[in-house]
Amino acid sequence: LKGRQVQVSQESEAVERLRGKLDFDDPDFHTFYEDVLTDLVGQCPVTHSSVGEGYWVVSKYEDVTRVLRDWESFTSARGFIVNRPPGIDAMLPIEMDPPRHRSWRALLNPYFNPARVADIEGEVRAIANGLIDNCLGSGEIEFVGDFAAPFAADVISRCVLHFPDADMPSLGSAIKRGLYGVVNDDGSREFDPAGFTEVHQYATAYLATRKRVPGSGDVVDAIVEFDVDDGEPVSDEERALVLYTLIFAGLDTTSSTLAAAVSYLSENTSMLEMLRDDSSMLPAAVEEFLRLLNPGVCFGRYATQDISVGGADIRAGDQLAVFYAAANRDPREFGDPSIRLGRSPNRHVAFGYGVHRCLGSHLARMTLRVALEQLTRRVEHWTVPAGGCIDSATNQRRQILSLPLRLG
Ligand code: HEM
Repeated sequence: LKGRQVQVSQESEAVERLRGKLDFDDPDFHTFYEDVLTDLVGQCPVTHSSVGEGYWVVSKYEDVTRVLRDWESFTSARGFIVNRPPGIDAMLPIEMDPPRHRSWRALLNPYFNPARVADIEGEVRAIANGLIDNCLGSGEIEFVGDFAAPFAADVISRCVLHFPDADMPSLGSAIKRGLYGVVNDDGSREFDPAGFTEVHQYATAYLATRKRVPGSGDVVDAIVEFDVDDGEPVSDEERALVLYTLIFAGLDTTSSTLAAAVSYLSENTSMLEMLRDDSSMLPAAVEEFLRLLNPGVCFGRYATQDISVGGADIRAGDQLAVFYAAANRDPREFGDPSIRLGRSPNRHVAFGYGVHRCLGSHLARMTLRVALEQLTRRVEHWTVPAGGCIDSATNQRRQILSLPLRLG
């Protein structure tokens, strides 16, 4: 009882401290994540934090969707990462406002629509099954490295962007450095912008190569050939920044959601049985996993004018941390926010909202559904082995870094 009391008091101390000054890098934000989110969305929907250059934390579903809807008052062009670290090249079209942004989305959207995504479903299933074949050979696996990360990378690299197999090892290690940083001798992780630079360089070189060969009608051809008629021609640099964003955007988002879902199902075996017996429930499960388990904690915006949000007076030039993960748990929108397969409506903001709503949402939904469909069909059960430890990290992303599993 005494131990529990100590934990409760540590928890409330941490929650109160983070309410006054939300710091995404504070270790307590990771430890007491759900409590901090519940507290902010319930008690303090708009609060100011002085960390870095300072930012307004916007947590309530209604305020989050209102900010995201109004791209003129809340720009993405100054950065969509809060206190953006130096050394990451611009991610386009995320860090761009209309009308230029609109032209890019008009070009890209048809390559990610439901019909295009349905065309590659068979290929995606084959990738999932190839990886499951390898996993079934060993009794114990590390799910992120053995399945989730290569699955997400293969889908985007092979089925969508058509990178040559020979490029994959070096590109894969650059991506990994960008997404997960480097691990120091003492085991701590450090952000490493070099991973982003290398992927950017790869995108530049790949576009130059593709320019020289006959087109195959994929999204890369469309990027190579794209130009706009608004006075400022599209440069090769702009094209490379779009391709480099397409490489990164669907990787840890898909793999961490999948790993978190598989971990959740290892503890909720009745839901696992339900999904195995009735695969028509998978799309609803995917929506719930996206809502609560996807790694996008918050994204940044800057106010372009003095404006009030949720009663707070925000000044032109102020930075905002738009707290998608808190909005996805807002009881005003979702009632009891815990995972429920019968949830309807389910208007989550896992893919964002407004003009920057995720380009890859149909692709992500399909890949998550197919992976879970094949895993539930082919693997009788999975458990985290005794002593096995899930390694995860939380800041502006909540990533699952490794997940040991015993397959049965
Ligand atoms: C579970 C998987 C995924 C999640 C949770 C996710 C989430 C998001 C979110 C929240 C945004 C909006 C960011 C903002 O408001 O600033 C976004 C944008 C974007 N996503 Fe995804 N994403 C996923 C998968 C993918 C995939 C597979 C792709 C494939 C290319 C992709 C490409 C993009 C792009 C290009 C944008 C920028 C759109 C724009 O600015 O117009 N995403 N995503």
